[in-house]
Amino acid sequence: MRPMDMNGSSAIVTGGASGLGEATVRKLASKGVRCTIFDRNEPLAKELAAELGGGANYVAGDVTVPDDCQRAVDQAAEGGNLRIAVNCAGVGWVGRVINRDGSPHDFGAFEMIQKINLFGTFNVMTKAASAIAKSEQLEHGERGVIVNTASVAAFDGQIGQLAYSASKGAVVGMTLPAARDLAVVGIRVCTIAPGLFDTPLLGLLPEPQRQALGESVLFPKRLGNPAEYGALVAHIAENSYLNAEVIRLDGGIRMPPK
Ligand SMILES: NC(=O)c1ccc[n+]([C@@H]2O[C@H](COP(=O)([O-])OP(=O)(O)OC[C@H]3O[C@@H](n4cnc5c(N)ncnc54)[C@H](O)[C@@H]3O)[C@@H](O)[C@H]2O)c1
Repeated sequence: MRPMDMNGSSAIVTGGASGLGEATVRKLASKGVRCTIFDRNEPLAKELAAELGGGANYVAGDVTVPDDCQRAVDQAAEGGNLRIAVNCAGVGWVGRVINRDGSPHDFGAFEMIQKINLFGTFNVMTKAASAIAKSEQLEHGERGVIVNTASVAAFDGQIGQLAYSASKGAVVGMTLPAARDLAVVGIRVCTIAPGLFDTPLLGLLPEPQRQALGESVLFPKRLGNPAEYGALVAHIAENSYLNAEVIRLDGGIRMPPK
């Protein structure tokens, strides 16, 4: 059985301008995949696309806006060989069910996190699936793959992660039904649940705190390297037998309450 040959195909990567998305773009581009970076950070997206030359292009937009998502998918599908969609755009939030002063969790914040992490994933997954379904069938009827990004917070939500865990738990929950829906058109769906990765997000923390976070990992005792995330995306894309699965990529960490 030959692995899915990615060379010459196209991909859309949301949040592709930074962190895990950027590492994914770099890995896929190195394998001959033409990547469309879809990110709301235009300067960063433009810079990466320029660095990768013909291997990448970009669309500046917001995953919560369906028209932006369609524009990005249309651009990725130009040429007719869209096979890979990776959803990395996402944001964190800290807020408890009730705040220290006893007031309830802010509704707007909860809604904003679901809009970006969940609805954004839904928007791009559905539109990309519709486009991938029009690509020519490969061996055994395969057309492509969708990789969504959850978090270990989907399972081990910590104090203050109510909104974030809800959004990531929903991304986990979409995995099986989406894979079932799309089996008929030869599209696989997998979700990666990362642990603690060394991205610009964590780069904001002081070094001692980053070190302590690394020490809390079972083995190896360090933060994840975004390239390790990119490598898993490439493996999922190539390995046709991986489907409907949620894969923790976390060095064995199980998050404590705080
Ligand atoms: N870094 C970690 O340790 C970690 C752990 C678990 C899960 N994750 C998840 O991985 C994903 C990527 O995280 P990261 O650490 O690479 O973060 P990051 O901040 O480095 O990158 C996220 C990218 O998404 C883009 N983005 C955010 N909201 C957007 C929107 N509405 N529309 C378009 N683009 C948008 C940002 O501009 C940014 O370029 C997120 O979904 C995050 O929740 C990260």
